[in-house]
Amino acid sequence: MGGELTPTLIEKVTELSTRPVQIAPSVLPADFSRLGEECINLEKAGVDRIQWDVMDGVFVPNLTFGPDVIRACRPLVDVPFEAHLMVVNPDELVHKYVEAGCEIIIVHAEACTHLHRTLSNIRELGAGPAVALNPATPASAVRHVMDLVDLILVMTVNPGFGGQEYISTMESKISEVAEMIQHTGRDIDLEVDGGIGPATVSGAAAAGADVLVAGSALYRDPQGLSHAVTEIRTLAEAARS
Ligand code: DX5
Repeated sequence: MGGELTPTLIEKVTELSTRPVQIAPSVLPADFSRLGEECINLEKAGVDRIQWDVMDGVFVPNLTFGPDVIRACRPLVDVPFEAHLMVVNPDELVHKYVEAGCEIIIVHAEACTHLHRTLSNIRELGAGPAVALNPATPASAVRHVMDLVDLILVMTVNPGFGGQEYISTMESKISEVAEMIQHTGRDIDLEVDGGIGPATVSGAAAAGADVLVAGSALYRDPQGLSHAVTEIRTLAEAARS
């Protein structure tokens, strides 16, 4: 059609397998009294985006950021913001987080009665649609929305709190999602979140993750944020090479 040369699936698969590793810190462990400064420090430390863990106290037993907090920090840095909506009513909140300045909106498959419509609505609002899977949710839950998403998040902890132990059995799901992405030939980020640090990132990256959310591991590094970001990126790239 049109005569233009389109990359073969093999070329696309090769392209996807060489996708850059991205570091997306969670600000959950940051100093909430200085969130603006913390975003600036994260950008200086070399992160690729910032993840806001939005929790409503119902979908998960914790309560965190409203859109106004994010809106206040938006002008301070240039890196993209992503909102990880751990909420029971994402359809009522998505537009508020887009308007607050989040370029990517992650909704949980478990919280969406009509996931296909919710993801389409995020696209219509001008943001990147993304879907998160809790540990017990199978990869098949996203099989019929692969054409709608820019990112799939495989949770490697049960959501709600930072500092939890990485669930290594999720690596088989990461690989399964990676294979699903390759078959689409689309440019979809495969993100992991929870317990990601120097001891666990290699397993997640080797399984196929290319966007790594880390919170505790960044803030507990005695050598500072920049060292932690570089170490996790280096380990992930080595695991994927
Ligand atoms: C869980 C949260 C955490 C946070 C990062 O709901 O989403 O996964 O982002 O946590 P740690 O501290 O494990 O990196």
